[in-house]
Amino acid sequence: MSSTTSPAIVFDPAEGLRSREVSLRAAGPGEVEIEIRAAGVCHSDLHVVTGDWPSDRSLVLGHEAAGVVTATGPGVASLKAGDHVVLSWFAPCRRCRRCVAGMAWLCTGTKAVANTHPDGTTPFTDDQGEPVWPYLGLGAFTRRLVVPEVAAVKVPDELPFGIGALLGCSVTTGVGAVVNTAGVRPGESAVVIGTGGVGLSIVMGLRLVGADPVIAVDLSAERLATARRFGATHTLDGAATDVAAWCQREFGGVEYAFEAIGNPRIIGTLPDMLTSGGAAVLVGMAATGATATFNAFDLADQGKRILGCNYGSSIGELDIPKLARLYLSGHLPLDDLVGRTRPLSEAAAAFDDLRSNTGVRTILEP
Ligand SMILES: NC(=O)c1ccc[n+]([C@@H]2O[C@H](COP(=O)([O-])OP(=O)(O)OC[C@H]3O[C@@H](n4cnc5c(N)ncnc54)[C@H](O)[C@@H]3O)[C@@H](O)[C@H]2O)c1
Ligand SMILES: [Zn+2]
Ligand SMILES: [Zn+2]
Repeated sequence: MSSTTSPAIVFDPAEGLRSREVSLRAAGPGEVEIEIRAAGVCHSDLHVVTGDWPSDRSLVLGHEAAGVVTATGPGVASLKAGDHVVLSWFAPCRRCRRCVAGMAWLCTGTKAVANTHPDGTTPFTDDQGEPVWPYLGLGAFTRRLVVPEVAAVKVPDELPFGIGALLGCSVTTGVGAVVNTAGVRPGESAVVIGTGGVGLSIVMGLRLVGADPVIAVDLSAERLATARRFGATHTLDGAATDVAAWCQREFGGVEYAFEAIGNPRIIGTLPDMLTSGGAAVLVGMAATGATATFNAFDLADQGKRILGCNYGSSIGELDIPKLARLYLSGHLPLDDLVGRTRPLSEAAAAFDDLRSNTGVRTILEP
Protein backbone atom coordinates (compact mmCIF):
# COMPACT_ATOMS: atom_id res chain seq x y z
CA MET A 1 0.00 0.00 0.00
CA SER A 2 1.35 3.46 -0.83
CA SER A 3 2.13 6.11 1.78
CA THR A 4 -0.91 7.85 3.29
CA THR A 5 -1.18 11.16 5.14
CA SER A 6 -3.31 11.86 8.20
CA PRO A 7 -3.44 14.27 11.13
CA ALA A 8 -1.51 13.19 14.22
CA ILE A 9 -1.16 14.62 17.73
CA VAL A 10 2.55 15.35 18.03
CA PHE A 11 4.66 16.50 20.95
CA ASP A 12 7.47 18.66 19.60
CA PRO A 13 10.25 19.59 22.09
CA ALA A 14 10.34 23.17 20.72
CA GLU A 15 6.66 23.75 19.98
CA GLY A 16 4.85 21.54 22.50
CA LEU A 17 1.61 19.73 21.71
CA ARG A 18 0.21 20.23 18.21
CA SER A 19 -1.68 18.58 15.39
CA ARG A 20 0.45 17.78 12.33
CA GLU A 21 -0.04 15.93 9.06
CA VAL A 22 2.18 12.85 9.00
CA SER A 23 2.91 10.34 6.25
CA LEU A 24 2.97 6.64 6.99
CA ARG A 25 5.09 4.13 5.10
CA ALA A 26 3.67 0.73 4.20
CA ALA A 27 4.02 -2.30 6.48
CA GLY A 28 7.34 -4.08 5.94
CA PRO A 29 8.33 -7.67 6.81
CA GLY A 30 6.87 -8.72 10.16
CA GLU A 31 4.76 -5.55 10.44
CA VAL A 32 1.06 -4.77 10.33
CA GLU A 33 -0.84 -1.62 9.37
CA ILE A 34 -3.69 -0.68 11.69
CA GLU A 35 -6.57 1.75 11.47
CA ILE A 36 -7.04 3.22 14.93
CA ARG A 37 -10.65 3.30 16.17
CA ALA A 38 -10.14 4.47 19.77
CA ALA A 39 -7.24 5.73 21.87
CA GLY A 40 -7.22 6.50 25.61
CA VAL A 41 -5.34 9.48 27.04
CA CYS A 42 -3.01 8.15 29.75
CA HIS A 43 -0.92 10.08 32.24
CA SER A 44 2.14 8.53 30.58
CA ASP A 45 1.31 10.75 27.54
CA LEU A 46 0.92 13.73 29.87
CA HIS A 47 4.34 13.06 31.48
CA VAL A 48 5.88 13.82 28.07
CA VAL A 49 3.84 17.00 27.56
CA THR A 50 4.70 18.35 31.04
CA GLY A 51 8.42 17.56 30.63
CA ASP A 52 8.51 14.97 33.46
CA TRP A 53 9.98 12.67 30.82
CA PRO A 54 11.99 14.93 28.50
CA SER A 55 12.06 14.06 24.80
CA ASP A 56 14.68 15.36 22.35
CA ARG A 57 12.57 14.42 19.33
CA SER A 58 9.10 14.91 17.90
CA LEU A 59 6.75 12.15 19.00
CA VAL A 60 3.36 11.02 17.78
CA LEU A 61 1.77 10.51 21.22
CA GLY A 62 -0.76 7.81 22.17
CA HIS A 63 -0.03 4.29 23.44
CA GLU A 64 -3.42 2.99 24.72
CA ALA A 65 -5.39 2.05 21.63
CA ALA A 66 -7.43 -0.44 19.63
CA GLY A 67 -8.23 -0.75 15.95
CA VAL A 68 -8.53 -2.96 12.89
CA VAL A 69 -5.74 -4.52 10.81
CA THR A 70 -5.81 -3.01 7.31
CA ALA A 71 -2.69 -4.63 5.79
CA THR A 72 0.06 -7.08 6.71
CA GLY A 73 3.69 -7.17 5.60
CA PRO A 74 5.54 -10.28 4.37
CA GLY A 75 5.91 -13.06 6.94
CA VAL A 76 3.06 -12.00 9.24
CA ALA A 77 1.31 -15.19 10.33
CA SER A 78 -0.82 -14.37 13.38
CA LEU A 79 -2.91 -11.50 11.95
CA LYS A 80 -4.86 -10.72 8.79
CA ALA A 81 -6.73 -7.70 7.38
CA GLY A 82 -10.00 -7.19 9.26
CA ASP A 83 -8.77 -8.57 12.59
CA HIS A 84 -9.61 -6.43 15.63
CA VAL A 85 -6.55 -5.72 17.75
CA VAL A 86 -5.42 -4.03 20.93
CA LEU A 87 -2.00 -2.41 20.77
CA SER A 88 0.55 -3.49 23.34
CA TRP A 89 3.09 -0.73 24.05
CA PHE A 90 5.91 -2.86 25.40
CA ALA A 91 6.54 -4.93 22.26
CA PRO A 92 8.98 -7.58 23.52
CA CYS A 93 11.91 -8.86 21.45
CA ARG A 94 11.12 -12.49 22.41
CA ARG A 95 14.85 -13.30 22.38
CA CYS A 96 16.50 -11.59 25.39
CA ARG A 97 17.06 -13.44 28.69
CA ARG A 98 14.05 -11.74 30.33
CA CYS A 99 11.73 -12.69 27.45
CA VAL A 100 13.00 -16.27 27.45
CA ALA A 101 12.43 -16.40 31.23
CA GLY A 102 8.76 -15.42 30.69
CA MET A 103 9.17 -11.83 31.90
CA ALA A 104 8.42 -9.98 28.68
CA TRP A 105 7.53 -6.81 30.64
CA LEU A 106 11.22 -6.49 31.52
CA CYS A 107 12.47 -7.14 27.96
CA THR A 108 15.93 -5.65 27.48
CA GLY A 109 15.80 -5.98 23.70
CA THR A 110 12.71 -3.81 23.11
CA LYS A 111 13.14 -0.40 21.52
CA ALA A 112 9.62 0.70 22.47
CA VAL A 113 10.88 2.74 25.44
CA ALA A 114 13.33 4.51 23.11
CA ASN A 115 10.28 5.48 21.01
CA THR A 116 11.33 3.59 17.88
CA HIS A 117 10.46 0.41 16.05
CA PRO A 118 12.59 -2.67 16.86
CA ASP A 119 14.99 -1.78 14.01
CA GLY A 120 15.49 1.77 15.32
CA THR A 121 13.36 3.43 12.62
CA THR A 122 10.00 5.21 12.52
CA PRO A 123 7.16 4.70 10.03
CA PHE A 124 6.13 8.39 10.27
CA THR A 125 7.51 11.47 8.47
CA ASP A 126 6.27 15.07 8.48
CA ASP A 127 5.53 17.25 5.42
CA GLN A 128 9.25 18.14 5.17
CA GLY A 129 10.17 14.45 5.06
CA GLU A 130 11.65 14.67 8.56
CA PRO A 131 11.12 11.69 10.90
CA VAL A 132 8.43 11.88 13.58
CA TRP A 133 8.85 9.14 16.20
CA PRO A 134 6.27 6.68 17.58
CA TYR A 135 5.78 7.17 21.35
CA LEU A 136 6.47 3.83 23.07
CA GLY A 137 6.89 2.29 19.63
CA LEU A 138 3.23 2.98 18.73
CA GLY A 139 2.16 6.63 18.19
CA ALA A 140 -1.57 5.93 18.35
CA PHE A 141 -3.00 9.50 18.27
CA THR A 142 -3.51 9.31 14.51
CA ARG A 143 -5.68 7.47 12.00
CA ARG A 144 -3.29 4.77 10.83
CA LEU A 145 -0.04 3.33 12.03
CA VAL A 146 2.40 0.54 11.35
CA VAL A 147 3.69 -1.62 14.21
CA PRO A 148 5.59 -4.90 14.59
CA GLU A 149 3.25 -7.91 14.63
CA VAL A 150 4.13 -8.55 18.30
CA ALA A 151 2.66 -5.15 19.29
CA ALA A 152 -0.84 -5.98 17.99
CA VAL A 153 -2.90 -8.50 19.96
CA LYS A 154 -5.98 -10.04 18.35
CA VAL A 155 -9.18 -9.64 20.40
CA PRO A 156 -12.81 -10.74 19.80
CA ASP A 157 -14.74 -8.63 17.27
CA GLU A 158 -17.50 -8.01 19.84
CA LEU A 159 -15.11 -6.16 22.18
CA PRO A 160 -15.97 -2.41 21.89
CA PHE A 161 -13.00 -0.39 20.62
CA GLY A 162 -13.08 2.01 23.60
CA ILE A 163 -12.77 -0.92 26.00
CA GLY A 164 -10.04 -2.43 23.85
CA ALA A 165 -8.12 0.85 24.03
CA LEU A 166 -8.15 0.74 27.85
CA LEU A 167 -6.87 -2.85 27.74
CA GLY A 168 -3.82 -1.48 25.94
CA CYS A 169 -2.47 0.25 29.05
CA SER A 170 -4.44 1.22 32.16
CA VAL A 171 -6.41 -1.98 32.71
CA THR A 172 -3.58 -4.38 31.88
CA THR A 173 -1.29 -2.36 34.15
CA GLY A 174 -3.75 -1.98 37.04
CA VAL A 175 -5.27 -5.46 37.11
CA GLY A 176 -1.83 -6.94 36.38
CA ALA A 177 -0.33 -5.04 39.33
CA VAL A 178 -2.78 -6.89 41.61
CA VAL A 179 -2.76 -10.31 39.98
CA ASN A 180 0.77 -10.62 38.59
CA THR A 181 3.07 -8.19 40.42
CA ALA A 182 1.61 -8.46 43.92
CA GLY A 183 -0.31 -11.76 43.72
CA VAL A 184 -3.02 -10.52 46.10
CA ARG A 185 -5.19 -13.29 47.56
CA PRO A 186 -8.84 -13.31 48.75
CA GLY A 187 -9.33 -11.50 52.06
CA GLU A 188 -6.02 -9.61 51.93
CA SER A 189 -6.13 -5.86 52.60
CA ALA A 190 -4.98 -3.10 50.27
CA VAL A 191 -4.85 0.66 49.89
CA VAL A 192 -4.72 2.35 46.47
CA ILE A 193 -3.39 5.91 46.30
CA GLY A 194 -4.53 7.75 43.17
CA THR A 195 -7.67 6.54 41.42
CA GLY A 196 -7.29 7.65 37.82
CA GLY A 197 -7.47 5.14 34.95
CA VAL A 198 -4.67 3.03 36.42
CA GLY A 199 -5.71 3.28 40.10
CA LEU A 200 -9.35 2.44 39.33
CA SER A 201 -8.12 -0.60 37.41
CA ILE A 202 -6.17 -1.64 40.52
CA VAL A 203 -9.39 -1.31 42.54
CA MET A 204 -11.19 -3.46 39.95
CA GLY A 205 -8.42 -6.05 40.12
CA LEU A 206 -8.65 -6.11 43.92
CA ARG A 207 -12.38 -6.79 43.76
CA LEU A 208 -11.77 -9.49 41.13
CA VAL A 209 -9.46 -11.39 43.51
CA GLY A 210 -11.65 -10.81 46.57
CA ALA A 211 -9.37 -8.44 48.51
CA ASP A 212 -10.92 -6.86 51.62
CA PRO A 213 -10.79 -4.17 52.82
CA VAL A 214 -9.95 -2.07 49.73
CA ILE A 215 -9.18 1.53 50.64
CA ALA A 216 -9.11 4.11 47.83
CA VAL A 217 -7.41 7.51 48.26
CA ASP A 218 -7.71 10.47 45.90
CA LEU A 219 -8.17 14.25 45.94
CA SER A 220 -11.26 14.08 43.70
CA ALA A 221 -14.61 13.22 45.28
CA GLU A 222 -15.90 12.13 41.86
CA ARG A 223 -13.03 9.66 41.45
CA LEU A 224 -13.64 8.29 44.93
CA ALA A 225 -17.33 7.77 44.17
CA THR A 226 -16.29 5.80 41.07
CA ALA A 227 -13.84 3.79 43.20
CA ARG A 228 -16.75 2.80 45.47
CA ARG A 229 -18.69 1.54 42.45
CA PHE A 230 -15.63 -0.49 41.43
CA GLY A 231 -15.40 -2.19 44.81
CA ALA A 232 -13.58 0.11 47.26
CA THR A 233 -14.87 -0.55 50.77
CA HIS A 234 -13.44 2.72 52.17
CA THR A 235 -12.54 6.04 50.52
CA LEU A 236 -10.28 8.77 51.88
CA ASP A 237 -9.57 12.34 50.85
CA GLY A 238 -5.79 12.34 50.45
CA ALA A 239 -5.51 16.06 51.21
CA ALA A 240 -7.34 15.80 54.53
CA THR A 241 -6.05 12.44 55.83
CA ASP A 242 -2.73 11.07 57.10
CA VAL A 243 -3.25 7.83 55.18
CA ALA A 244 -0.44 5.88 56.91
CA ALA A 245 -1.72 6.80 60.39
CA TRP A 246 -5.29 5.92 59.31
CA CYS A 247 -4.24 2.48 57.96
CA GLN A 248 -2.31 1.72 61.17
CA ARG A 249 -5.15 2.91 63.43
CA GLU A 250 -7.99 1.14 61.60
CA PHE A 251 -6.32 -2.10 60.45
CA GLY A 252 -2.89 -2.32 62.09
CA GLY A 253 -1.48 -1.62 58.63
CA VAL A 254 -2.50 -3.13 55.29
CA GLU A 255 -0.94 -6.00 53.35
CA TYR A 256 -0.54 -4.04 50.09
CA ALA A 257 -0.13 -0.34 49.33
CA PHE A 258 -0.41 0.54 45.63
CA GLU A 259 0.73 3.97 44.41
CA ALA A 260 -0.81 5.01 41.08
CA ILE A 261 0.23 8.66 40.80
CA GLY A 262 4.02 8.77 40.44
CA ASN A 263 4.50 11.18 43.38
CA PRO A 264 7.85 10.53 45.18
CA ARG A 265 6.61 12.11 48.42
CA ILE A 266 3.67 9.71 48.58
CA ILE A 267 5.80 6.75 47.46
CA GLY A 268 8.04 7.42 50.49
CA THR A 269 5.04 7.05 52.83
CA LEU A 270 3.87 3.66 51.45
CA PRO A 271 5.93 1.46 53.82
CA ASP A 272 4.36 3.27 56.80
CA MET A 273 0.90 2.12 55.59
CA LEU A 274 1.92 -1.56 55.71
CA THR A 275 1.61 -4.28 58.30
CA SER A 276 4.71 -6.45 58.82
CA GLY A 277 5.50 -8.51 55.73
CA GLY A 278 3.38 -6.18 53.58
CA ALA A 279 4.37 -4.91 50.14
CA ALA A 280 4.39 -1.46 48.57
CA VAL A 281 3.70 -1.66 44.84
CA LEU A 282 5.03 1.21 42.70
CA VAL A 283 2.73 1.49 39.67
CA GLY A 284 2.73 5.26 39.17
CA MET A 285 5.75 6.49 37.23
CA ALA A 286 7.68 9.38 38.75
CA ALA A 287 9.63 11.99 36.77
CA THR A 288 12.94 10.79 35.30
CA GLY A 289 15.58 10.64 38.07
CA ALA A 290 13.12 11.17 40.97
CA THR A 291 14.07 9.61 44.31
CA ALA A 292 11.98 8.71 47.37
CA THR A 293 13.03 8.12 50.98
CA PHE A 294 11.65 5.74 53.62
CA ASN A 295 12.50 4.33 57.04
CA ALA A 296 15.20 1.76 56.18
CA PHE A 297 15.28 0.20 59.67
CA ASP A 298 11.52 -0.36 59.76
CA LEU A 299 11.54 -1.92 56.28
CA ALA A 300 14.16 -4.52 57.24
CA ASP A 301 12.92 -5.05 60.80
CA GLN A 302 9.30 -5.59 59.75
CA GLY A 303 10.09 -7.62 56.62
CA LYS A 304 8.30 -5.13 54.36
CA ARG A 305 8.84 -5.19 50.61
CA ILE A 306 8.88 -2.70 47.75
CA LEU A 307 7.82 -4.02 44.32
CA GLY A 308 8.28 -2.19 41.03
CA CYS A 309 5.53 -2.72 38.47
CA ASN A 310 6.05 -2.20 34.76
CA TYR A 311 2.95 -2.84 32.59
CA GLY A 312 1.36 -4.87 35.40
CA SER A 313 4.07 -7.53 34.98
CA SER A 314 1.94 -8.58 32.00
CA ILE A 315 2.60 -10.38 28.74
CA GLY A 316 0.36 -8.61 26.23
CA GLU A 317 -0.33 -11.66 24.07
CA LEU A 318 -1.50 -13.66 27.11
CA ASP A 319 -3.04 -11.08 29.40
CA ILE A 320 -4.91 -8.78 26.98
CA PRO A 321 -7.14 -11.58 25.54
CA LYS A 322 -7.70 -12.85 29.10
CA LEU A 323 -8.86 -9.40 30.27
CA ALA A 324 -11.07 -9.08 27.17
CA ARG A 325 -12.80 -12.34 28.10
CA LEU A 326 -13.23 -11.19 31.71
CA TYR A 327 -14.93 -8.01 30.46
CA LEU A 328 -17.16 -9.89 28.00
CA SER A 329 -18.24 -12.33 30.72
CA GLY A 330 -19.16 -9.49 33.09
CA HIS A 331 -16.26 -9.78 35.55
CA LEU A 332 -14.71 -6.35 34.89
CA PRO A 333 -17.00 -3.26 34.83
CA LEU A 334 -14.89 -1.49 32.23
CA ASP A 335 -17.80 0.46 30.72
CA ASP A 336 -17.65 2.69 33.80
CA LEU A 337 -13.98 3.46 33.11
CA VAL A 338 -14.72 4.93 29.68
CA GLY A 339 -15.17 8.66 30.07
CA ARG A 340 -15.87 11.29 27.47
CA THR A 341 -15.29 10.46 23.81
CA ARG A 342 -13.73 13.27 21.76
CA PRO A 343 -12.55 13.56 18.15
CA LEU A 344 -8.76 13.55 17.68
CA SER A 345 -8.92 17.28 16.92
CA GLU A 346 -9.86 17.85 20.59
CA ALA A 347 -6.69 16.21 21.94
CA ALA A 348 -5.64 19.37 23.81
CA ALA A 349 -9.00 19.43 25.62
CA ALA A 350 -8.60 15.71 26.35
CA PHE A 351 -5.27 16.47 28.07
CA ASP A 352 -7.07 19.17 30.07
CA ASP A 353 -9.65 16.53 31.14
CA LEU A 354 -6.76 14.42 32.44
CA ARG A 355 -5.02 17.33 34.21
CA SER A 356 -8.24 18.42 35.91
CA ASN A 357 -9.44 14.86 36.73
CA THR A 358 -12.63 15.51 34.74
CA GLY A 359 -14.65 12.32 34.22
CA VAL A 360 -12.74 9.05 33.99
CA ARG A 361 -10.65 7.99 30.96
CA THR A 362 -11.17 10.27 27.93
CA ILE A 363 -11.15 8.38 24.61
CA LEU A 364 -10.02 9.98 21.33
CA GLU A 365 -11.57 8.77 18.06
CA PRO A 366 -9.64 9.60 14.88
N1 LIG B 1 3.65 1.08 35.68
C1 LIG B 1 3.23 1.21 34.44
O1 LIG B 1 3.55 0.43 33.56
C2 LIG B 1 2.29 2.34 34.12
C3 LIG B 1 1.36 2.23 33.07
C4 LIG B 1 0.47 3.27 32.85
C5 LIG B 1 0.54 4.41 33.61
N2 LIG B 1 1.48 4.48 34.60
C6 LIG B 1 1.59 5.67 35.47
O2 LIG B 1 0.58 5.59 36.44
C7 LIG B 1 0.30 6.91 36.90
C8 LIG B 1 -1.21 7.15 36.88
O3 LIG B 1 -1.67 7.17 35.54
P1 LIG B 1 -3.19 7.54 35.23
O4 LIG B 1 -3.31 7.57 33.75
O5 LIG B 1 -4.10 6.72 36.04
O6 LIG B 1 -3.20 9.04 35.79
P2 LIG B 1 -4.44 9.97 36.18
O7 LIG B 1 -3.94 11.37 36.07
O8 LIG B 1 -5.66 9.55 35.44
O9 LIG B 1 -4.69 9.60 37.72
C9 LIG B 1 -3.94 10.08 38.78
C10 LIG B 1 -4.87 10.22 39.99
O10 LIG B 1 -4.10 10.57 41.12
C11 LIG B 1 -4.81 11.50 41.88
N3 LIG B 1 -3.86 12.24 42.71
C12 LIG B 1 -2.95 13.16 42.32
N4 LIG B 1 -2.26 13.62 43.38
C13 LIG B 1 -2.75 12.98 44.46
C14 LIG B 1 -2.45 13.01 45.85
N5 LIG B 1 -1.50 13.81 46.32
N6 LIG B 1 -3.16 12.21 46.68
C15 LIG B 1 -4.12 11.38 46.21
N7 LIG B 1 -4.45 11.30 44.90
C16 LIG B 1 -3.77 12.09 44.04
C17 LIG B 1 -5.53 12.36 40.86
O11 LIG B 1 -6.64 13.03 41.42
C18 LIG B 1 -5.93 11.30 39.81
O12 LIG B 1 -7.21 10.79 40.07
C19 LIG B 1 1.10 7.86 36.02
O13 LIG B 1 2.32 8.17 36.67
C20 LIG B 1 1.38 7.00 34.80
O14 LIG B 1 2.52 7.42 34.08
C21 LIG B 1 2.32 3.47 34.88
ZN1 LIG C 1 13.18 -9.33 25.13
ZN1 LIG D 1 -0.39 4.33 29.67
